[in-house]
Amino acid sequence: MSTFNPKGPIAETQLDLFYLTVWVTGFIFVVVGGVFVVAIVKFRERPNDNRPMPSQGHGNPLIEIGLIGASVLLLVIIAVPTLQAIWYTHDTPMNEYSKLGNWYSGEELSKDAEDEVLIIRVIGYQWWWEFEYPQLGINTANEMVIPAGKAVHLELRSVDVIHSFWLPRIAGKVDLIPGRANAMWIQAGDDFDRWALKNEIDTANGNEVELQAVYKTYLEEEIHDYYYGQCAEFCGDSHARMLFRATVVGDDEFAEWVESARVGHTAPAGKSWDAWYDTYDQEPESLVTDLDKGAKIFMGRGKCIACHAVEGNPRALGVAGPNLTNVGERLSIAAGWLNHHTEDDVLIEDEQYDNFVRWIKETDVVKPGNRMWKANGNGIGELLDPDDSEKIKLLTDNEIHYLALYLQSLK
Ligand code: CUA
Repeated sequence: MSTFNPKGPIAETQLDLFYLTVWVTGFIFVVVGGVFVVAIVKFRERPNDNRPMPSQGHGNPLIEIGLIGASVLLLVIIAVPTLQAIWYTHDTPMNEYSKLGNWYSGEELSKDAEDEVLIIRVIGYQWWWEFEYPQLGINTANEMVIPAGKAVHLELRSVDVIHSFWLPRIAGKVDLIPGRANAMWIQAGDDFDRWALKNEIDTANGNEVELQAVYKTYLEEEIHDYYYGQCAEFCGDSHARMLFRATVVGDDEFAEWVESARVGHTAPAGKSWDAWYDTYDQEPESLVTDLDKGAKIFMGRGKCIACHAVEGNPRALGVAGPNLTNVGERLSIAAGWLNHHTEDDVLIEDEQYDNFVRWIKETDVVKPGNRMWKANGNGIGELLDPDDSEKIKLLTDNEIHYLALYLQSLK
């Protein structure tokens, strides 16, 4: 998460500004500190010091005006690039590379969207992130996917308290404030022009095709990655556990991801949901495979669908919690807090299973204060009588096992 290793124009601009400020203030420190040290060494009192008291001056217009002038000059040196950076990071660039119509290869794009950059609505909750892609009609949580080398416009909102979006190697930070829509743009990797400019490549040479290939390799090898983000504004009990991730992918991979998120999932064993629900409503005991059992708990005793949506499943339409379409593909759960991947970002299924079990079983230990459904505060399960805490049937270990298997299958 180091800001000293930026992977996008915004983070680079912010780092440049940081260095400029460090150099200017460092210069001031050395000059003022140097004069101070010379003064105390040269004019200190020594044994048998017979030197006369130095003349006590007061008010020297030349020195005063000179110092004011120097201060103003230093402030201008910092202020001009700062203002430039503020304007640069404020306005989402509308370059040709970033317009959806010019790179998005998936289907069903409205005419308006073709001329826009990708928009992602980032919504903060205690303590997780919703990422909605309005132009593409999809919704995900905690792990956003963005295309490499393209500007992306973010709309930042919150449903409860103030959060702050911070993706250190790409951009940051802007607050998510209840009742207000903030905006920022991010970009992982340079667009073609900026990349060429930085590498002093003459693009007017007529070898555009060749250059585009080199540029593509740069995106693939240097930018394609899994980046870590964090809520950067204290927002309650589990603020420190409100992380998120950004997966930066190539254009084709992005279109595939959108398609998969749009289609969602069928019922276990590729059955249609209509057929599955018919059986579920009439003879649920005939649904006996592991995934059927998990799905039954997901729809029934676990009460998962009250808060979670899963694309494709007509009864899983909850909006209070993260959208679980493709949750089995995510390399982390519980808003980036429980990870299950290698250093090279390959999913480890055993760890994923353990994380699901742990998250369902000890949701309050994993993330204190979180709002996942807990029957009378006791754990996930069924509340048979709200007035009698004895009448709670929490999920058994066995049920949690099947639920975890089902969640893993959502990919
Ligand atoms: Cu959300 Cu801190």
